[in-house]
Amino acid sequence: MALNLTPDEKALGKANFLDVTGDLTRRGFMKSMAVAGSAVTVAGAAGYFGYKKLDGKPVKVAIIGTGDEGGVLIGEHNPEFLEIVAICDIRPTNRKRAYTGDKDVALRKGLTKVYGSDAEKNIHQYADYKDMLAKEKEIEAVIIATPLVSHAPIAIDCLKAGKHVLCEKLMARTIGQCKDMIRAAKAADRILSIGHQRHYSMLYAHATEVIRSGILGDVRHIRALWHRNFTWPRMEGGKTRYNPETGEPIVDAGKQAIDAVTKQLLLRDGWTPPIAAEDIAELEKDIRSKYGYKDLVELVRWRLYNRTGGGLMAELGSHQLDACSIFLGKVHPLSVVGVGTHSFYGHEAGDGKPNPREIDDHVFTTFEFPGPNHPKGPNKGKDKDDIVVVTYSSISTNGFEPYGECVTGSRGTMLVENEQNVMLYTERDPNKKSPGTPRSSTATVSSGAKPVVEAGPTWGGPAAAATASGGVSAPISRGYREEMEDFAYCIKLWNDSKGTDRRWPRCPGEVAMADAIIALTANIAMKKRERIEFQDTWFDPASSSVPDGDLKLEIV
Ligand SMILES: NC(=O)c1ccc[n+]([C@@H]2O[C@H](COP(=O)([O-])OP(=O)(O)OC[C@H]3O[C@@H](n4cnc5c(N)ncnc54)[C@H](O)[C@@H]3O)[C@@H](O)[C@H]2O)c1
Repeated sequence: MALNLTPDEKALGKANFLDVTGDLTRRGFMKSMAVAGSAVTVAGAAGYFGYKKLDGKPVKVAIIGTGDEGGVLIGEHNPEFLEIVAICDIRPTNRKRAYTGDKDVALRKGLTKVYGSDAEKNIHQYADYKDMLAKEKEIEAVIIATPLVSHAPIAIDCLKAGKHVLCEKLMARTIGQCKDMIRAAKAADRILSIGHQRHYSMLYAHATEVIRSGILGDVRHIRALWHRNFTWPRMEGGKTRYNPETGEPIVDAGKQAIDAVTKQLLLRDGWTPPIAAEDIAELEKDIRSKYGYKDLVELVRWRLYNRTGGGLMAELGSHQLDACSIFLGKVHPLSVVGVGTHSFYGHEAGDGKPNPREIDDHVFTTFEFPGPNHPKGPNKGKDKDDIVVVTYSSISTNGFEPYGECVTGSRGTMLVENEQNVMLYTERDPNKKSPGTPRSSTATVSSGAKPVVEAGPTWGGPAAAATASGGVSAPISRGYREEMEDFAYCIKLWNDSKGTDRRWPRCPGEVAMADAIIALTANIAMKKRERIEFQDTWFDPASSSVPDGDLKLEIV
C-alpha cells in the first residue's frame, strides 16, 4: 500500500497501532477489551461481536459449492457451532476435494481431517442441491459458495425450503436479485447472512475504532487497492522458475501450457483455471440442460464472463469498499466515476485468437462518500461539502504493492495491509516542531506500553499469537470462522426464542445489498463512462428501484 516503507518502518507503524488501541482500551474508548475482558479468553472475538458458545448441539448445515472458497469455509468452520452433514457440488473433482482438502493450502484442510476417516460415509454428497434438499431433511441451514450467477436462485430455493442461508459475497449478480433474496428470507422467516468476512475481523474492528477515536483527524481520503500480476505463463511439466536478476520466467523449466479449451497460452491467472478431464467426462453432455451453464468453460471460469461474474469490482472491490463504508460509519456512497479497461487480456495471444475474457482486467474508480457532518453522514449534519473521496483500483499486470486500504487524515495515516497488519503514523505538527512518527530506517520497535494483544484469540483464533514487541506473529483470522460461529448462534437464538429474542448476523441481506450496489453500479459507471449518483431507493429492499443498467440476466 505504501511504496516507501522499510521493514523497520512497518514494524514501527504496527507498534504505533497497538499502542493506540491499548491506550484507547485503557481509557475505556474502545469496547473490545471491555467486552472481552482483560484476560483474553477463547470468547474474545465472540464477546466483541456479541455471540456466545452454543448451548446444546451444533446447527446441522450443508455446503453448496465446494470449490476454492467452499474449501476455505469447510476448513475454517468450528464443529462446535456447525456440523456439516451434507455437501453438494456439480463438479466431481470438487466433491472429492471437499473431503481431502488441498495438500498445499492449510486453510483448506478438508472434511476428513475435521470429522475423521468416516467423513465420506457420514457426510452425504450430492451433485444437485434440489435433490439434497429433498432427501436431507435434518439440514437446518446451508452455506452457499457457488458462482455469482447462481447465488440468488439457490438461496431463494433454500429459503423457501425453510433453511437459514449464509451465502458468499457478492450477494447476487443483479441488484434486483438482491432484493428478491431479502424478500424471500422475510417471507420464509429465515436468516439471510452474506459472507463479507471483514464484518467479523477483529483487525478491521480495531482499525474502525481507531478512526472513530478521531486520532487521524479529519479523514478526507481513503485509497484502496488490490493489484495482482496475472501475466506469467503457466508451465507444463514443472514449476515456473524465474531468473532472479531479470524476473523473466525460465522457459526451459517446462513447456508453456496451452489451454485445452481455447488453444491459447495459459497464463498463471487464478481466474482461468485448467479444466479437469474428470469434470469434462461427467458433465460435458448435460451441463446446459441440467445446471444452466452454457458450457463447462462458463462453469469453471465463471469469473471471466459478464453473465456469470461481476468482475474485479465484485470479486475484490466489494470487500474493500465494504471496509471503507464501515470505516466511514456504515454510510452509503454518494457517487461514482471510473475507467475500466480490457487492455491486457484483450490482446491476441498464443495462436492469435482474441482472448475470450469479457470482464475488465484493470479498474480504476473514484467514489464520493458522505463525511461525518454531511446530511447523509453518520451525524446527519448540514454540511454538503463534507465529502470523503475513496479511490479504488484493481489491476492484473503488476503485484508490487500489497493489497489493502490506506486511510489518510489531517493528523495521521492508517494502513491496513493484506487483512493481516495495521500500521499507524502521525503527521508532523509544524507548530510544535514535533517529528510526527519517526520514519528513519534505523527506528527500532519498542512500544513502551505492554502489547495490547496478549494472546491470539481476540484477534484471530488459536493460530494467532502476539510477540513481545507487540506484533502479531502468526496469521490472524480474516473473520470466516467468526462469521460462521455467529451465523450458528443467530440460528439457535432464532429457533429457541420463538421470535422474542432474535438477532441478525452483522452482514444481513440489507447490508450486503449495499456492497453489491456499490460494486455493480461502479461497473455500470465504467461501462457507460458516466458519473452516477447513488439513489436512496436502490438501497431500500421494499422499493423495486434499481440503477439504470442493472443487468437483465440471460438465462440459459
Ligand atoms: N469471502 C471471500 O473472501 C471469498 C473469496 C473467494 C470466493 N468467494 C466467493 O465464493 C463463491 C465461490 O467462489 P470460488 O472461488 O469457490 O469458485 P469455484 O469456481 O472455485 O467454486 C465454485 C463451485 O461451485 C460449484 N457449483 C456451481 N454451480 C453450482 C450449483 N448450481 N450447485 C452446486 N455447485 C455448483 C462449482 O462446480 C464449483 O466447484 C463466489 O461467490 C466468490 O465470489 C468469496
